[in-house]
Amino acid sequence: MISKIQYIICFILTSSFGFSQDYEAKVDSLMNLMTLQEKIGQTVMYGGSWDQTGPIVGTNNGKLIREGNMGAMLNAFTVKGTSDLQKIAIEETRLGIPLLFGYDVIHGHRTIFPINLGMSASWDLKMIEESSRIAAEEASAEGLHWTFAPMVDISREPRWGRISEGAGEDVFLGSEIAKAYVKGFQGDDLSQPNTILACAKHYVAYGAPQAGRDYHTVNMGEGELRNVYLPPFKATVDAGVETFMSAFNELNGIPTSGNKFTLRDILRDEWDFNGFVVSDYTSINEMIPHGFAKDSIDAAKIGMNAGVDMDMMGHVYRLHLKNLVDEGKVSEDYINDACRRILMAKFKLGLFEDPYRYIDEERENTTKYKPEFLTKAREIAAASSVLLQNKNQTLPLSIETKKIAFIGPLVKDEYDILGNWAAKGDRKGKAVSVFEGVSEYLNPSQILYSKGCEILKDDDSGFDEAISISKQADEIVLVMGEGHHMSGEAASRTNLKIPGIQPELIKKIREANPNKKITLVLMNGRPLNLSDEVNQVDAILEVWFPGTMGGAATADLLFGKVNPSGKLTVTFPRNVGQVPIYYNMKNTGRPIPETNPNEDYKSNYIDSPNTPLFVFGHGLSYSNFEYSDLILSSHDLTFSNSIKASVVVTNKGEFDGHEVVQLYIHDKVGSVTRPVKELKGFQKIFLKKGENKTVTFTITAEDLKFYNSKMIYGVEPGYFEIAIKPSSEFKFKQTFKLVND
Ligand code: BGC
Repeated sequence: MISKIQYIICFILTSSFGFSQDYEAKVDSLMNLMTLQEKIGQTVMYGGSWDQTGPIVGTNNGKLIREGNMGAMLNAFTVKGTSDLQKIAIEETRLGIPLLFGYDVIHGHRTIFPINLGMSASWDLKMIEESSRIAAEEASAEGLHWTFAPMVDISREPRWGRISEGAGEDVFLGSEIAKAYVKGFQGDDLSQPNTILACAKHYVAYGAPQAGRDYHTVNMGEGELRNVYLPPFKATVDAGVETFMSAFNELNGIPTSGNKFTLRDILRDEWDFNGFVVSDYTSINEMIPHGFAKDSIDAAKIGMNAGVDMDMMGHVYRLHLKNLVDEGKVSEDYINDACRRILMAKFKLGLFEDPYRYIDEERENTTKYKPEFLTKAREIAAASSVLLQNKNQTLPLSIETKKIAFIGPLVKDEYDILGNWAAKGDRKGKAVSVFEGVSEYLNPSQILYSKGCEILKDDDSGFDEAISISKQADEIVLVMGEGHHMSGEAASRTNLKIPGIQPELIKKIREANPNKKITLVLMNGRPLNLSDEVNQVDAILEVWFPGTMGGAATADLLFGKVNPSGKLTVTFPRNVGQVPIYYNMKNTGRPIPETNPNEDYKSNYIDSPNTPLFVFGHGLSYSNFEYSDLILSSHDLTFSNSIKASVVVTNKGEFDGHEVVQLYIHDKVGSVTRPVKELKGFQKIFLKKGENKTVTFTITAEDLKFYNSKMIYGVEPGYFEIAIKPSSEFKFKQTFKLVND
């Protein structure tokens, strides 16, 4: 039965301005009917309840929805689950305001793509956008309106498990990738039922925790914050992202979920962000143990005043905001703003016109794991893998090889292969293991298999079998790495070695087979210390956690059906003591002299080189790309013109392939010191064998801007070094000058 008030709402929605896009007027009319507590209700998010078969309406959730005390839910999806909950919101509340359903759709929903750090290594913005488009198709078909993605935290901290969820260490690449995810999730028209709201998280600087420990303290100068950690967030605002998530960490003493400077001054006032901000999971409450709020009432006050519009799981807005307004401690305007922004998102999604538009059983049944999604997942997994080492052209393998031994705990794995935060991706029975993948290429008689050991356990009882199998084979492929739970949230490590006794097994297999070609396929969620392994094996193929089609994609690479083209977006250190190590560091006043790296009193180590094991941008191909010298259209750039920089890239190898061509610049002298190198552009090109292409980049003064010590964003005239290279490992040879017009 439709109530009188619901009738009025229908009238608002369909009256003269009802069919227009004038959501603001509609929101205002609706808000005029709402009580303060109902407005607060919109700022509240709780989790769905589950039984074994799926989401159910928990008694407490049902009660909260009926009372108008809940505006959004997380972890509730499927057509059945969301329709039951939505029905309560529509039919049993005074105003019938639809609920918003959100979920962590991070690297796929059902069809799982490689972990995000892996996908970033594709440097393929189109593919990344396609992955989030497919994720949105699948998620929206199961009733979801909103994903808590992309995570756009820059991180130079391999100990931190969540480095796996981001796009690596670089600000330029990270910003481009951030935009691609947002476009894919949100599409061009949010009112289409196959688009979902994106959420830029975790705002901000969560990726730089002290000692790499999750949730830990961040102390950072404003220059670094603005030059490195904020830009990917700004990029998502420019791409039209609808929501932001505040983070768990403190930043310079102020928790980021109570940080007015970042949430109001920067996000709202400087960037003009109009969407809403949700807290991270109980991050408002966590201001109490942070020592920033004295109790949950204080936490609610600080969170809302700082600019967090929605409280995820914390119960503090629902319980305390009304009293805080009555007592004059929180302005009612803030509640109105928060409620308005949340309602606006619901309008944009079309939920007021049809709250059930994401609830369509047929769509749910026909959308997941579409063959074209799986094909794309296979393609993306192959493009995301990085060939770190390939001595003596060990790879690709030949299908003619008589016997290949596949050894390691991840050969037959269908579980870890999806990685962490794998949404509702089915594992056993759905994910394609490496074993299944290579079985597409080889006859059973060519495949020898032994697990050898577990990822983490100390039990070496499988070593003998593994060694004996390795001796019977002509070539050896080891599939090893981390478990999926070893990266992601709350999964920091102090040791970056391949875990458990796997390194020992690698050594033993090498000892038993001194002259045989050994390939190591690695699954992991962070840069690892591979200093020993580079000497023990011939080839290393980094496939990250490659997702549902990961095993098939790995086989495509191993047998050369696909030529590897991924390049690292994060530096691999030689040892954990070098961390943080990243390509665009500062030079220091005592850089190591080129001619005498061991000179005393220079910025070096006494027990390790400064250089990493694998640099940012590194990644091999089965082909061999040659770069000509750089040609500059002019050596003088002015504020109003542009110059062009180009190289000719030639595929000199025997395989067709993709190459990621990278543009780097170095601002030689600044009013604040500048990094030794900065990525300023890239192009992923395809070259048939023997083919060449001229790759050209246009450079303007805009590309050279940075925040100076007064936090003014600008560009300073002077000399800039420039290079176009296959990775960040090179010495600059050319310079241009920025001069006044
Ligand atoms: C994570 C977020 C996630 C949220 C909801 C938190 O623990 O930090 O990234 O979106 O949970 O699941």
